[in-house]
Amino acid sequence: MRTSWTPGRVNLIGEWIDFNGGWVLPAALPLGVTVRLTPSDDGIDTVRSVQFEGLSSATLDQGASGHWADYVFGALQAARTRGWLTGGAEVSLDSDIPAGAGVSSSAAVTVGVLRATAPDGTDLTELATLARQVENHFVGVPCGIMDQMAVAHTGPGEALALNTRTLEFDRLAFPADWRFAVLHSGVDRKLADGRYGARREACESSARQLGLDYLCDGGDLSALPQDLLPVARHAVSEDKRTQDAIDALKAGDGERFGTLMTQSHASLRDDFQVSTPRIDALIDDALGLGALGARLTGAGFGGCVVILLPPEAGEAWTGRLLDRHPKAWSVAEVGARADDAVPQNVEDLPS
Ligand code: GLA
Repeated sequence: MRTSWTPGRVNLIGEWIDFNGGWVLPAALPLGVTVRLTPSDDGIDTVRSVQFEGLSSATLDQGASGHWADYVFGALQAARTRGWLTGGAEVSLDSDIPAGAGVSSSAAVTVGVLRATAPDGTDLTELATLARQVENHFVGVPCGIMDQMAVAHTGPGEALALNTRTLEFDRLAFPADWRFAVLHSGVDRKLADGRYGARREACESSARQLGLDYLCDGGDLSALPQDLLPVARHAVSEDKRTQDAIDALKAGDGERFGTLMTQSHASLRDDFQVSTPRIDALIDDALGLGALGARLTGAGFGGCVVILLPPEAGEAWTGRLLDRHPKAWSVAEVGARADDAVPQNVEDLPS
């Protein structure tokens, strides 16, 4: 049996620019998925999950069916194209990453299954790139590369400053007093329902009309039609904010980092238009309670927010915010790695 553990991620800043040639800054959650995989010879892949009932099975070349197990079947097919697996596999998943919340539970599964099949020493960027192909071409979600790179390369307590154009990156630790709360807004979202693709097309169309390979390169946006101008303005300004935020993290400047997060939210709300009134209210109340910064995280249309807590915030801070938003709930806290953090590699796991 091969075993792997892969975290979920929260994106701290750099939203909707991982296919526009921009910088992003996701961080690993202290939540993850354990994959246990046993190769089999019977020409069939099977997957079960501790969290969901039932056993799903597929022949070795079956297409996607719209079921969550597609991420596993797609990853197994990709592993076979690399020769990492020859026959079928029995896969069992155990995950504490909330599904459909915008914290990359699917990227963690796809990367986790590939990790459990790849030979030791496989380049993690190659693994992440393959995982993205599974999502793009097998599952049919036209996502960028951020999530797969984040969950492949980071562990709890770390952020990934990633140039999505070159795939160069830096793993950054958090200052000891930085704590981010990741809260689910209580608003459901679904990535595969077409809204992601429509936003992506608007970005591509803007880049084409500006004669650019990457929308983040911006230039004179005034040539764009009124409906595309705010889309481009978000991409260009978000890239700049993210680079500034990476500098603020390196300098330990929490005030500056928080301000950039809040500006990012305003841009996602007003220009890119992927927020919702309930998320905006949660952000406003977090800031009213003294948060250094707050923004929606992930694709938006619901899902999670990330809040940089004031240094003096005690245990009760998040509870006070949640009291005002009864549908919201706490997903995780992210900060400097605690000694009792979850296992990061297979050696730590019982098989
Ligand atoms: C989803 C996608 C990512 C990225 C974000 C928005 O998480 O999977 O590639 O585009 O949305 O920043």
